[in-house]
Amino acid sequence: MRVDVALTPSEFAGASLAGGAALVIDVLRASTSVVAACAAGCRQVIPVADAEAARARARAFPGGGALLAGEQGGEPIPGFDLGNSPMEYIPERVRGRTIILTTTNGTAAMIAARAAAAAGVAALTNLTAAARWAAAQGRDVTLLCAGEKGRFSLEDAVCAGLLVDRLTGAGEAIEVSDAAMAARRVGQYYLADLSRLLDDSAWARKLDRAGRAADLRACLALASVDAVPVLADGAVVPGVPCGPPAAQPEARR
Ligand code: MLT
Repeated sequence: MRVDVALTPSEFAGASLAGGAALVIDVLRASTSVVAACAAGCRQVIPVADAEAARARARAFPGGGALLAGEQGGEPIPGFDLGNSPMEYIPERVRGRTIILTTTNGTAAMIAARAAAAAGVAALTNLTAAARWAAAQGRDVTLLCAGEKGRFSLEDAVCAGLLVDRLTGAGEAIEVSDAAMAARRVGQYYLADLSRLLDDSAWARKLDRAGRAADLRACLALASVDAVPVLADGAVVPGVPCGPPAAQPEARR
């Protein structure tokens, strides 16, 4: 198995996704919200490019059958049912529902992941399950970091690196690309104290200034969800639980 990391969206096109497995990572906050939505029992999350596409897609679900969700510039979109806070994706709001989601970076990465033979959604919150899911695919794995408007995002690289770390620690012979090795080393540094991301990540600082400290805490809750949402026919659907959480070194919070 080969593990690669696309550290920015510009690398998605060059990543050999066809025939492989991909995990989409947007720790702050889209992939964390999708993991929360699926854990809360939503039916599916349909990622779309922008608010207009979301409204158009919702028309296929007459009578308010689908929830409109997402953000622009980190803020909820006027007229939408949900924003992009993982705290909003609770069973009372989303159980059994279709969610049409648009976010600045995360949903584009989910759309790009459709090119893979198997694709899932990873966050720090489902890290252990996501590593297990990737190892179980029996394919080369590419970790797609959503980044921020085309640029590198520290928190996504950390999550990718921790996934690489767990995959390489699983005992199987794994070929690791230079980008995956770099991410792994960064991940190992932050694992000792994930809260350092609150100071070091530009988007974390922005969310904090916007009064979203609770979201940040939710997004850094390491391996607290034991399932991996997966892509099926272009939508993200709840995956099956991936077994009991393995004993992992706890990050200080
Ligand atoms: C994104 O897709 O860029 C985000 O998840 C931004 C956010 O809402 O924090």
